[in-house]
Formats: sequence, structure tokens, C-alpha cells
Amino acid sequence: MGLLNDIEPLKQSALAELKAASNPAALEQVKGAWIGPHGKFTALMKQLGTLSKEEKPVAGKLINAAKVELEAALAERRTELELKAALPKEPTDFSAPGRRRALGKLHPLTQVTEDIVRAFRKLGFAVADGPEIEDEYHCFDALNTPADHPARDTQDTFYVQAESDSKLKTQNSKLLLRTHTSSVQIRVMKSQPPPVRIIVPGRVYRRDNADATHNPTFQQIEGLYVDKNVTVGDLKGTVEFVFKELLGEETKIRFRPHYFSYTEPSFEIDFSNKLVKKLGKEWLEIAGCGMVHPAVFEIVGYDPEIWTGWAFGFGIERIAMIRYGINDIRLFYENDVRFLKQF
Ligand code: DAH
Repeated sequence: MGLLNDIEPLKQSALAELKAASNPAALEQVKGAWIGPHGKFTALMKQLGTLSKEEKPVAGKLINAAKVELEAALAERRTELELKAALPKEPTDFSAPGRRRALGKLHPLTQVTEDIVRAFRKLGFAVADGPEIEDEYHCFDALNTPADHPARDTQDTFYVQAESDSKLKTQNSKLLLRTHTSSVQIRVMKSQPPPVRIIVPGRVYRRDNADATHNPTFQQIEGLYVDKNVTVGDLKGTVEFVFKELLGEETKIRFRPHYFSYTEPSFEIDFSNKLVKKLGKEWLEIAGCGMVHPAVFEIVGYDPEIWTGWAFGFGIERIAMIRYGINDIRLFYENDVRFLKQF
């Protein structure tokens, strides 16, 4: 009668061991020791033959029932251990302060651009836009820039090869990445009658090797004002207002004569304030400008006898660098958050 009486206590021991297994490997070992091919319950089955005819079915039933129970206990313990492994090792501290998700912010160049746009909006200027892939006509010819001008050299400008059926290919004019936002002057004037009062912030491209003050892509802002009886005085007053808004009330500007083929007369604008003095300088060149050349008005179909206007263009990086004390233009384009999150 030994065998029949052994079943229950053996099952209890097996259950206790399954419950005590503290990791999957230990659990597999317990399984092997009891219900595996060489386990103790398998051995019990083999002893059935030694029992009497009456006892045999009873014992067989009991052993099978015990095995089913052990299999269930095994599966349950396995799930428990898996859940335990998936839980965090450290207990959760529900009283700890929440983790704040880092919010992104606008790129410093975008911030400066928005400030410039805001200043011009106060004067009634609207924002206009144009394509970065331009043609030679809008970038140069229509701006009265002759074919032998150095800016048109392949050493200075990125030319683009377009398939002959490309939508980009408009007229018989070579495609290029615009070298300045001045091309948008032409597009706007050709699309609307005067008066015009626009600014054009945008990306431009030049074949410059990158160094602390050059980058093959940078941003400009163009301005164009066309009306009757517009003078250099209007230009100077506007530029002065905007630079004071941007760089402080004590900012001074001066105009120096210069040459641009699409303006006459043309000037370069210098400015001076305490930021410039910090750099050990009196004046810093910041922009080009002038009165719109009559030849440009002719090209876009405005009557130069009636309409007058001025235009300017300046680099946005330059202003951002002075404003924030940044000494390398490449930093704007490296996308390093340690740099970007300072502004
Ligand atoms: N396009 C010139 C440049 O990229 C800047 C400029 C000069 C724009 C004179 C103008 C202008 O509109 O009148 O250097």
C-alpha cells in the first residue's frame, strides 16, 4: 500500500518546490525533478506494475490527476516569474516629482527673422516669397546684371541641371540655386502693379567654402518699396527704424556709396552700437541698398517716369551673430542642441 499513500505527500513537496523556484532556470530544474522523463512521478508510473489489480487503476488515476495539477502549478509559476522579471527593479516612488518633457524652441535664425519681420510689419510691409531654385533671368538678367558679372561664374554659383521636361524649366534660362533674395523683387513686381511694400526672408546659396564667416547656404532678407516720390531719405529712415528695433535704441547707421547693378545710386549700410564696439570696431557693414534702377522698372513693366523705389538686402546670420555674440556661422547649421538651446 506504500505507493498509494506516497502520491499525496510527493505532490505536496513538488508543489512547494515549484512555488519556491525563484527564477525560470530553477523552475525548469524542479520540473525535471518531478514530471520530466526522469522525474519522480514518471518513476511512480513505472511502479504501477507492482500493484494489485484493484489498486492499479486507483493509483494510475491519482498519479495522473497529480501530474495535471503540477503542470498547472508550473504554468502559473512560470507566468508569475515572467511578470516579476518585467517589473522595474526599483520600487516606484509615486511621490517623486514628474518628469517634464523638454520643449523645443525656435532656431535662433528663425527668432531673429521673426523680429525683423515684426519690425517691418509695423511699417506696413508684407512678407513675400519666391523659389530657391531660380533661373538666371530672375536672379541676374532682370536685375540688370550682365552676363560677364562674376556672380554668374560657376565658381560662385550652384547651377542646376534640369530634365528638359521638368516643371522647373520655364524659359530658356539656366537654373541655379538663388544667390540672393533679390530675384523675388522681379517676381513680385511682375505679378502686381505698383505700389509695392514687401520684405522677403529666405535661404540663399553660394559656392563658398565654409569657415567662421561663410557658409554655402545662409539667409537673407530683402526689402522693396515702390511708390511715387520715394527718396533715399525714406530708405534711410526705414533702415534706421528697423535697426534700432532690432539692435537697440542707441544703434546708429551710416550709408557709404557702393555699386549694385539693380540700384542707382547704391549704398552699403554700416551700423554702430555697443555690440560693435565690444568687437573692437567702430562700424560694421551689414547690408546693401539703393534706389531701384530705372532699367529694372522697365524690365518689369513699371514706368520709371512715374514710379520710384528703394531696395535693400542683408544677411540674417550676421545680425544673429552680433546680437547673441556668436563667433562662427557654422554653429547655426550643425544642429547641436547644446548650442541651440541657449537662445
Ligand atoms: N543682393 C545683394 C547681395 O546679396 C544685396 C542687395 C544690395 C540687395 C542692394 C538689394 C540692393 O536689394 O538694393 O549682396
